[in-house]
Amino acid sequence: MTIKNIFKASLFHSIHYGKIEFLKDAVITVLENGIINEVIKNNDPNYVEKLTEYSSHQNFYDFGDKILLPGFIDLHIHAPQWPQAGLALDDELSCWLDNFTFPLEAKYEDVNYAKEVYTDLVKTLLANGTTSAMYFGTIHNEATLELAKICADLGQRGFVGKVVMDDKTMNPNFYRDYSTKEALKNTEQFIKDVTALGKNVPQGVYPVITPRFVPSCTDEALKGLGVLAKKYNTYIQSHCSESDWEHNFVSERFGRRDTEVLASFGLLTDKAVMAHGNFINSRDAKIFSHNHSSVCHCPISNSYFANAVLPVNKLKNEGVNICLGTDISGGFSPSLYDNIKQTVMSSRLLNDGVDNNLPSNQRGINNSKVSIFEAFYLATHGGGKALKLPLGIFKKGYICDFQVIDISTPNNKLPNYLDNEEDKHLLQKILYLSTKENIREVWIQGKRVLKK
Ligand code: GUN
Ligand code: FE
Repeated sequence: MTIKNIFKASLFHSIHYGKIEFLKDAVITVLENGIINEVIKNNDPNYVEKLTEYSSHQNFYDFGDKILLPGFIDLHIHAPQWPQAGLALDDELSCWLDNFTFPLEAKYEDVNYAKEVYTDLVKTLLANGTTSAMYFGTIHNEATLELAKICADLGQRGFVGKVVMDDKTMNPNFYRDYSTKEALKNTEQFIKDVTALGKNVPQGVYPVITPRFVPSCTDEALKGLGVLAKKYNTYIQSHCSESDWEHNFVSERFGRRDTEVLASFGLLTDKAVMAHGNFINSRDAKIFSHNHSSVCHCPISNSYFANAVLPVNKLKNEGVNICLGTDISGGFSPSLYDNIKQTVMSSRLLNDGVDNNLPSNQRGINNSKVSIFEAFYLATHGGGKALKLPLGIFKKGYICDFQVIDISTPNNKLPNYLDNEEDKHLLQKILYLSTKENIREVWIQGKRVLKK
C-alpha cells in the first residue's frame, strides 16, 4: 500500500500508564487506509535524508510549532441527553432518570429531532478533540441508526447502541421496550443495520449491545443480549455499580453483585465497556481483569450521582483496564479535557479525604492520587485498549487519529513566560488550560475531518 500523507510534527503520547513521551519534529508517514506506517524520530540516523525526501511529497504537512495529541476516546456518552447537559443535576440518580431523562429520551421517536441534536453533538465532540465515541442512543432503532449515520458522515469513529429497557415494573409506559421479545428483535436488527452501514465507513461505525443497566432489564432480556453479543461478537456497554442505589438494588434482586450478574449473562466480555464501576470490589475487579472487560471512568458525572469516588489506582493495580467518558448528561461537559482534569481533582479528594472533623491521617485513602499524565493515558491509550483497537498512540500499525493544538491561538493564548520549561510542562499546560479554541484541526483515520 502506498503512503498517502506525511506529517512533520511535535507530539505527545502515553504508551504506558503514567509515562509520557514527547517527540519533537517527528515525521509520520500514513498509508492510504489511515494506518501509521512509520514514526521517524529526530535522532534517527536517516531522519534528515527521509525528511528531505518526503518534504517534496504532495501531501506533506508541516505542523510547525503546533502540537499533536492523539484523538480523545470518549467511551461513555448518552447522545440523546445532550439537550439537557448542565441541567437537572440536583436530584438523586433514579429520580433524575424518571423526572428528566426518560421524558427527554422519549422524544427521539421523532427522527428529525434526533437528526438535529445528534448532528450538533457529534460536531461538538469533534471540535473538542474526540475522535472515537461510544454512545448510548435511545430505545428507538430509527433515531439511533441516524446517530450511526451521522458519525459515519462526519468522519467520527462511532460505537452506537440501541438502548434496552424492557422491565415493565421499572420503566415508564411512555418510554420502554414494548416487550422483551421486541427488545431483542430490535437489537438484532440494529446490529445488522449498523454492521451493513459500517462496511463502507473507513473509520468504522460499530453496533453496541446496550442493556441500560441491570435494574431496567428483565432476566430474559439480559440473557438474550448475552446470546446476541456472542452470536455477533459485538461490543457491549452498560452501567455497573454506579451508585449506592443501583448497586444495592442489583444485590437485592439477585443476591449477587452487579459485576457477577453481568458476567453470568455473558455481558462482561473483552469487548465490554462498563460505565462508572464506583462500587466494584476486589473480587469484582478479578472478574473484570480475567474477562479483559474495561471500566469507563466518568468523573464529572460521578461527582453528582455516584456517592463515591472511583479508586482508579486500586483497580489499575488489580489489573483492570480503565478508560474515560463524559457521561453526558450525568456529566455536563462534552469535553474529555474537562474529564481529565476532574479525574485528577476527584482523586485528590479521595486521597486526602474531605471530612475536616477527622485527623488528617484518617481522612483519606493513601495512594489514590491520579496524575494529569495518568488521566491523559485513560483518555487515549486506555480507550484504545478498551476497544481492542490499535488507537491512542503514534506508532507503526496504529490508526492515525489526532488533534492539532495551537497554544498561541488568539482566542486562548496559553501563558508562555517561564525560562527553561521542560517538555512535560507544555503537556500539562495544554491539558489544564486549553479549550476547544486551541484545537485547530482534527484528523481521523488519516483524514482531516475538521479545520478551524
Ligand atoms: N443509569 C441508567 N441510566 C443512566 C443514565 O442515563 N445516566 C447515568 N449516569 N446513569 C444511568
Ligand atoms: Fe451513563
